[in-house]
Amino acid sequence: MAAPPPPAGRKRILCVGLVCLDIISVVEAYPAEDTDTRCVSQRWQRGGNASNSCTVLALLGAPCAFMGSLAPGHAADFVLADLRRYAVELCHLVLHPSCSFPTSVVIASASRGTRTILHANRNLPDVTARDFEQVDLSQYKWIHWEGRNASEQVKMIQRVEEHNRAQPPAQRIRISVEVEKPREELYQLFGHGDVVFVSKDVARHLGYGSAAEAVRGLRGRLRPGATLVCAWAEAGADAVGPDGQPVHSDAFPPAAVVDTLGAGDTFNAAVIFALSEGQSLQDAVTLGCRVAGRKCGVQGYDGIV
Ligand code: FRU
Repeated sequence: MAAPPPPAGRKRILCVGLVCLDIISVVEAYPAEDTDTRCVSQRWQRGGNASNSCTVLALLGAPCAFMGSLAPGHAADFVLADLRRYAVELCHLVLHPSCSFPTSVVIASASRGTRTILHANRNLPDVTARDFEQVDLSQYKWIHWEGRNASEQVKMIQRVEEHNRAQPPAQRIRISVEVEKPREELYQLFGHGDVVFVSKDVARHLGYGSAAEAVRGLRGRLRPGATLVCAWAEAGADAVGPDGQPVHSDAFPPAAVVDTLGAGDTFNAAVIFALSEGQSLQDAVTLGCRVAGRKCGVQGYDGIV
């Protein structure tokens, strides 16, 4: 199904990656093994990095679209209704009728602000380069990939790069990728895209002790002219752009940290939003920290903008 044109001719931001169901139990303190605990609250929430980033982009007022795989059932109905509630465009869902829908059980500790995720994805395949051929690129000004099946994702990115070569600079689609999990296959994504988000987890795994160290040390893996961004929880975030000048923002911690689930996805979305609106790298990283900080102060996403 073709997407209707974006509002007032504004091109959209497309996020490619996971949508899943998060079943969240908020507990006062993280439970010990083999105990029986009464939760403070429990809820279903739509999850998945790319889907969470779409929520935040929509809240920031950016027309956006989600591309990901889906398996039918109650959980899928729930997440679809929620994506529609945020007016996220859904014309690039890839349906797998005989697969099961991915689910995370999340234990959120109210006293410590931690989130412990148990993720199950039995057999739902990721979006392929073949699926991505259906995307009408003229609708988009920015495409973001949550690093997953990286070799396929590189082929998707190459399709966009080819499209860009035939466009005047102002019409080119900006490309971003997220390297969040410490998995060797994902590291090839460092060499692709205009903006690369690397997580604290990956940076530490690769031997870096701070975001500033990580952006300095990993910059050589990027293609020339690309930007590297690394958020480091309460230490804020650092980035380095094509001019080689490092930028830093402190974190904006809320009065009380109540829910950190999706804080990284929130940070990425706010940085993408700011850069796509032409803001400087410094302003983008600062907005990322500000919105991610607000997210940590509320359950879910409503009220962060
Ligand atoms: C948060 C999140 C959750 C999901 C999990 C998958 O970043 O996307 O919503 O359950 O990570 O790894």
